[in-house]
Amino acid sequence: MKASDNKATLSFSNGGQSVELPIYKGTLGPDVIDIRKLYAQTGMFTYDPGFMSTASCQSSITYIDGDKGELLYRGYPIEQLATNCDYLETCYLLLNGELPNTAEKEKFTRLVTNHTMVNEQMQFFLRGFRRDAHPMAIMTGLVGALSAFYHDSTDINNPEHRDIAAIRLIAKMPTLVAMAYKYNVGQPYIYPRNDLSYAGNFLHMMFATPCEEYKVSPVLERALDRIFILHADHEQNASTSTVRLCGSSGTNPFAAIAAGVACLWGPAHGGANEAALNMLYDIQKEGGVEKIGEFIKKVKDKNSNVKLMGFGHRVYKNYDPRAKLMQETCNEVLTELGLEKDPLFALAKQLEKIALEDEYFVSRKLYPNVDFYSGIVQRAIGIPVSLFTAVFALARTVGWIAQLNEMIGDPEYKIGRPRQLFEGSPKRDVKPISAR
Ligand code: ACO
Repeated sequence: MKASDNKATLSFSNGGQSVELPIYKGTLGPDVIDIRKLYAQTGMFTYDPGFMSTASCQSSITYIDGDKGELLYRGYPIEQLATNCDYLETCYLLLNGELPNTAEKEKFTRLVTNHTMVNEQMQFFLRGFRRDAHPMAIMTGLVGALSAFYHDSTDINNPEHRDIAAIRLIAKMPTLVAMAYKYNVGQPYIYPRNDLSYAGNFLHMMFATPCEEYKVSPVLERALDRIFILHADHEQNASTSTVRLCGSSGTNPFAAIAAGVACLWGPAHGGANEAALNMLYDIQKEGGVEKIGEFIKKVKDKNSNVKLMGFGHRVYKNYDPRAKLMQETCNEVLTELGLEKDPLFALAKQLEKIALEDEYFVSRKLYPNVDFYSGIVQRAIGIPVSLFTAVFALARTVGWIAQLNEMIGDPEYKIGRPRQLFEGSPKRDVKPISAR
């Protein structure tokens, strides 16, 4: 961390002694005020629910400029990565800090490809779930259960264990998501194939059956690969912060990633792609494009609790750059599948247009986020809506691991332990039950 010449002074209106706080500069983005000694110096905590103004760590992985609508992985703009690189190159970049050369890429791809099978016992573990269980419920269980299957890579403080756990998680996530799907639909599991790409293999495990091979379409393969790249990391979002907090106790990497999966499930985070598509279905059921006005009215009504899913973001106060790339992919996929006139896509386009012109959305800087289009692409590929968030989890796994490993390697890392403003009862005595 680079100290700034600038310092912050905190003074108190009651005449208490003022405190000088150091300021640090990052390579990009706002400076941070170091408040670590604040409690020792003043006996006070800071109060910041939702981390609106708090940097929880230092990181060199991903940078977002929410006002500009810019996203960089290790300095590279997401647009360039999505256009020139594939997902495994992006994984290598996030984990190692640099893009791989040809030999490095080949070695990394081979390593991931050779770890795609899961322990054969896993399918018996899966059998314990109801067939109609939500795939994210299954994924939370399966990822956590990996620590029961791979005992030789559970020491988070051992760099070799961390490396093996990283490869295992990246390699096995597609297998687990496809298994969760096959279990849901009652079809036999399909084993991974080493001659296919990462995305191609996922499509194969999802859609092949023992009686029929699935021919992987290069357009759909590329679209899925792009979904993976766009979701690979997003700095200190809720699930990543969950993984860091969980891992800060020294728990094993599989358990920490399972915590991330659980957090991602929520509709305000990864569950938004599922919620966005369900919202489009609901509007379509009620009358389609003609009902958009009525729907928008409900969204603007504070008492309705209805949100325009796939819109708004804590950090982006401009168009989410991933949404632009996803929209492009969406057009390609719909053209490939002859679905250009798909009514759901037309509805999404119209909804986006109206929302972008509406004063409510404009004044609050609410723009479409990546989830607004990724659901439509996944649906067109044939991925069921209930599996969308699991696909997001698959893609985000590398980001979670990169951030977890960065935290473990940070000499300033400590177990995460926020404080609180206590608003409950002061100390009191328990009365005998007859007197309560
Ligand atoms: N529809 C309608 N109004 C919205 C929306 C929305 N999607 N998002 C925010 N607003 C309104 C809020 O009601 C609030 O209005 P107010 O100032 O009049 O009270 C204002 O915009 C600010 O919103 P906050 O909720 O305070 O913003 P916050 O940063 O806390 O929330 C969030 C961000 C959770 C993403 C929110 O925009 C949302 O719920 N969006 C819909 C869900 C979604 O698409 N999530 C995906 C996030 S991206 C991802 O995880 C990949």
